[in-house]
Amino acid sequence: MTSTSACGAHRGLPPGPSLNADTWKASERDLMEHLREFCRTYGPVFTVHAEGRRPRVYVADPQAIQDIFVRHQEDLEGLGPSMFKALVTDRSVAYLNGHVHRKTRHLLGHALEAHDPSLRARTIARIVADESDRLEPGVENPLEHFTNRVTRGVILEITFGRLSSDIHLRVLDSLDRAMTSLHEQQNTPSASCPESGERLPASFSAALADLDRILLLEIVRRRTDETRQDCVVSRLLSSSTATGKLTDQDIALHVKTLLVSGHETTSAALAWALLHLSLNPVVLDALRQEITAELAPEDLLRLPYLNAVCLEVLRHSAPVPNGGAREVVREFHAQGYLFPPGTEIVPAIHLTHQREQTFANACAFAPKRFQGVRYGHSEFLPFGIGPRHCLGATLALQELRIAVAEITRRADLHVVLPRGEIMPISMGPTQRLPKDIAIYRSQPSTIAPRRRTTALNIGSQVHE
Ligand code: HEM
Repeated sequence: MTSTSACGAHRGLPPGPSLNADTWKASERDLMEHLREFCRTYGPVFTVHAEGRRPRVYVADPQAIQDIFVRHQEDLEGLGPSMFKALVTDRSVAYLNGHVHRKTRHLLGHALEAHDPSLRARTIARIVADESDRLEPGVENPLEHFTNRVTRGVILEITFGRLSSDIHLRVLDSLDRAMTSLHEQQNTPSASCPESGERLPASFSAALADLDRILLLEIVRRRTDETRQDCVVSRLLSSSTATGKLTDQDIALHVKTLLVSGHETTSAALAWALLHLSLNPVVLDALRQEITAELAPEDLLRLPYLNAVCLEVLRHSAPVPNGGAREVVREFHAQGYLFPPGTEIVPAIHLTHQREQTFANACAFAPKRFQGVRYGHSEFLPFGIGPRHCLGATLALQELRIAVAEITRRADLHVVLPRGEIMPISMGPTQRLPKDIAIYRSQPSTIAPRRRTTALNIGSQVHE
């Protein structure tokens, strides 16, 4: 795969490969495959030295995760995802540190809480139903497009309440254009990290300007709106900080952060859930027995097997396979190694979830492993660890459980699998689904599609 040489000694950084600039670029294109190999060769705590970059340590051992990211949290600063900085700026919570980070997390955490959990459950169920009904009968839609529409709808409504359909569409359109530009930029072979606006295409700047304009207009309108809806924006409008009320620009910045972090991840998780269910008829059958027709959306949140299925999706196919990189700002010792300032350290979520010592037969999709068992915070960490733990974890889990249940209990939705073998996953900012998986809505009178499909509620096999 790559030519590697061990470096780092006891009490220096953990051992790991040294890559020249070309091998590093090649390994980035297939990062998880390379990280798996480094983990096999050097053990669960290893350092990647790449020419022209700071050493980066990946940590896939629960005790080491606890020692480094929790015990030494004060010696680390979060770097935030470089990809989205141009969209949300470095004043977004994902790039803050220390006292300001804690305060901002507190503010956003409070704004995201569901004051009426039943209402939130019903809102999510309604959005899932609307998007399912919107699928044109008899037409195959890429599964990820469908799950994306569901999760974008949810995060937008949680953030703003119900928007007029015109504003709703304009926010999503400008957000989509901005995100597409960033993804394209990241996938360009010669691209460097899109941290500053300088190298970003004009299409990105235009989309960002549109997005900012629409968000600000809507926030200004909400200030004088008498019928305040219970949503993130109205809570932020009435919050105060040590320096007074939040400005419209501050609120727009937080809204963008939630919109950006809150939908691709959940969309990937939902798509993986539907794929796993259609590949595992026994699991699907057991799930159907639990999700009976009379259960209201809020009741779904109490179902143990549904919960186990969703947790196993997040373990097996972690949508964010590596947590955010932290930079060492004060030297410390942990696990027999010395971590000097400037080193980058990453919780290796996917690798930790693949440990046979914690999860026997880790490659298998087996929700039972979550029944009656609670794994430690550093053994099962789909939402990361320590003070940078995902701010939307509670919402994401509610959304995943309700969406999986509501889609699974519809008889008219079918997942269409690709012909032949399902190709391995590829890596994006979130872990991407295998290609060519579609969703299809049938009607009693509809002629069967050309590819054989499988109703989610009757189990599935790979199709011809
Ligand atoms: C299945 C869905 C999701 C997964 C798997 C996920 C996973 C993660 C992970 C792994 C991190 C980095 C944690 C670390 O480095 O320790 C993170 C950070 C974050 N997530 Fe999520 N996330 C999901 C959904 C959401 C949602 C719905 C929201 C917003 C409503 C959200 C908002 C954030 C924010 C703001 C951060 C940065 C926190 C900080 O730096 O303090 N996420 N998420």
